[in-house]
Amino acid sequence: MDSLSLPLRIACLYATDRSVEQRAAHEWCADAVATADRVALSDVADGTVDLAAYDAAWWHRDEPLDDVSAEAANCAGALSAYLEDGGGLLLSLRALSAVEALGVDPVAPDAVGVEDHPNPTGFAPKALHAAHPAFESFGDRAHTDPAAQDRPYARYEALVPERGQVLACALSGDDLLAGRKTLVSWRTGEGAVFGVGANVVFSAEGDETAARDRLVRNLLATAGGDRRPAFTDRYTDGTGATALREALADDHHRPAYHLAAPANWLNDPNGLIHHDGRYHLFYQYNPAGPFHGSIHWGHATSEDLLHWTDRPVALAPSPDGPDRDGCWSGCAVVDGDGTPTLLYTGGRGRVQLPCLATASDDGLDAWVKDGDNPIIEAAPDDVAVLETDDWSAEFRDHCVWREGDAWYQLIGAGLQDGGGVVLLYRGETLREWEYVGPLLVDEDDRPETVWECPELLDFGDAQVLHVSNYEETRYFVGGADLRSPGFSVERAGVLDYGDFYAPQSLRAPDGRSLTWGWVKEARGVDAQWRAGWSGAMSLPRELDVAGGELRQRPAAELAALRDRRVDLAASLHLAADERRTLDLSGNAYEVVAEIDLEPGATFELGLFESPALSERTAVRYDGDAVVVDRSRSSHDPAGAAHEQRLPVADLVGSDGTLSLHAFVDGSILELFANERRCLTSRVYPTRADADGVSLSARGGDVALRSFDAWELEATFPAGRSRTE
Ligand code: FRU
Repeated sequence: MDSLSLPLRIACLYATDRSVEQRAAHEWCADAVATADRVALSDVADGTVDLAAYDAAWWHRDEPLDDVSAEAANCAGALSAYLEDGGGLLLSLRALSAVEALGVDPVAPDAVGVEDHPNPTGFAPKALHAAHPAFESFGDRAHTDPAAQDRPYARYEALVPERGQVLACALSGDDLLAGRKTLVSWRTGEGAVFGVGANVVFSAEGDETAARDRLVRNLLATAGGDRRPAFTDRYTDGTGATALREALADDHHRPAYHLAAPANWLNDPNGLIHHDGRYHLFYQYNPAGPFHGSIHWGHATSEDLLHWTDRPVALAPSPDGPDRDGCWSGCAVVDGDGTPTLLYTGGRGRVQLPCLATASDDGLDAWVKDGDNPIIEAAPDDVAVLETDDWSAEFRDHCVWREGDAWYQLIGAGLQDGGGVVLLYRGETLREWEYVGPLLVDEDDRPETVWECPELLDFGDAQVLHVSNYEETRYFVGGADLRSPGFSVERAGVLDYGDFYAPQSLRAPDGRSLTWGWVKEARGVDAQWRAGWSGAMSLPRELDVAGGELRQRPAAELAALRDRRVDLAASLHLAADERRTLDLSGNAYEVVAEIDLEPGATFELGLFESPALSERTAVRYDGDAVVVDRSRSSHDPAGAAHEQRLPVADLVGSDGTLSLHAFVDGSILELFANERRCLTSRVYPTRADADGVSLSARGGDVALRSFDAWELEATFPAGRSRTE
């Protein structure tokens, strides 16, 4: 045993014959560890070999598994007893596919085969797992295999394991392939299983062997040692979720009072409902990492709309179900017999169809999927629903309500000839639907547009229909006819001019319509990967129609977040070129100003300002528009983003004033103009001390008819720590 070899006894598993690759791996192992015995799976199965004599077992296999799955299944019992007692197992290359046969996880990798690599390949650890011993002495990316041909692999692509956590994704050259999940781990009782489905080949020497050696040694040492990390990002309760929040709490871009997922990925709000005294907000969630894919439903609850409690993940794809590849957006309603029910889109292969689940507990934590899913068998054929590379029919997202003696449902879709469409269904029950016709068809026939997440809101005198068309959320004020279907549009507009998408609403007990939207990231996939989280919910907005116009206001409850009020002792008159800094810090605050411009003047609210102003974001109002200038927001090129523009000329009151209401939180900025139009923005200053705020006037005087600012309370138990 040389000084570098690991003090471990490893059982090198094999089924029937050993391949060249397996022999090479075994030879390598014999050098790397104290004891490396060859052990046949059949000997484990019949008890000839007791794995308890080993610190860990390692099954490395380059060949398909088909012939030997039965052999693997035979030793599942012995193996699970070994793992329960604290044993360790490493599965590499195509042996990762054996997780199902071995009883480790019901979901096996969905992408298995042999491929060529034009570039060196390797892995990029998830930020949450950067300190994991598998990555000891690695940076944030590593190549473990040179460019090569005929490399065997097994990885999760559309799917994720049901119980395991993703530790890293694949790397090809410099490209992060977030959707290719190659490094996975499971906790099994006292034991642990690690999987590395690619880029660890021993029979062909190349340039990258040092990194390969390091990775496999680290994995064997962790599998066979007693210092396995307890941290997991597959949380099953609130405590587990809090551990994730704590892991991200030092990130000054994390919001402190906006709801974000504990970590990983979030998109649309779903299933919004007030039930049994609590607000429930579900959301599109990817446990595999901060990117879109393998969509589950995350869940959070609140009694006051301000403080949210993380609940366990509510919906996960079923390996044998029509939602195998994802549980996409949907809504919650209470059925006639009082059963809370979800309608959502299940995806599998190229098919997406409506599915249903019912609550099996009052807390809405546990859901039972309907045995007859999907509840609508196909997209309607009397309308040409768009077919794309991804989907045979772009047909998804649900808005369901009861009216008269029937249920109604809207589903979003695209038209083969271009433009989006909202399709109307009618149902005697939540499980039997008949297609009525299109409720509204897009006037713009841009190809490949889908009207996602349609929602119809009823305000008595007027109704509001909104749809999200990939770029923005458009709304229509008017009236719906559910019999000879149609929507008469009286006014149309954009719900939010910024990084806001796919909103959904609920009725509060007092009748208000409260709406949340997905606050998207404005930075690239790599930056999101490095951050370890992506996406947040907007603040709840109160929507209604006043004087025929859509009104949007921050929910009244938000005023309870107000903490220290900022005193502006002197007058609120800013002379041309005057600049005044505010006594605000920590990037968790609210500002409300009524702004009156002298002709030719521009008012500027400086946000996210670093001490020397090398980073700052300017919100400018010149009478025509409110512009968010992000050109100097961040030193990180990945954090720079384009300018956003909120037209307001038609909103300015007869007294010439504009009321601007701003909420700043970590990397989120939400603006409300005259309680009518909104703009949500993302800003990523590199410096945590880029938290200064200023007011200034350019080109003329500016009078602030009123001005107020408050620091706001952080509402998560492990929220972002304030920088004082
Ligand atoms: C909108 C959307 C929906 C879909 C979901 C998938 O952002 O694309 O149409 O159901 O997200 O996560």
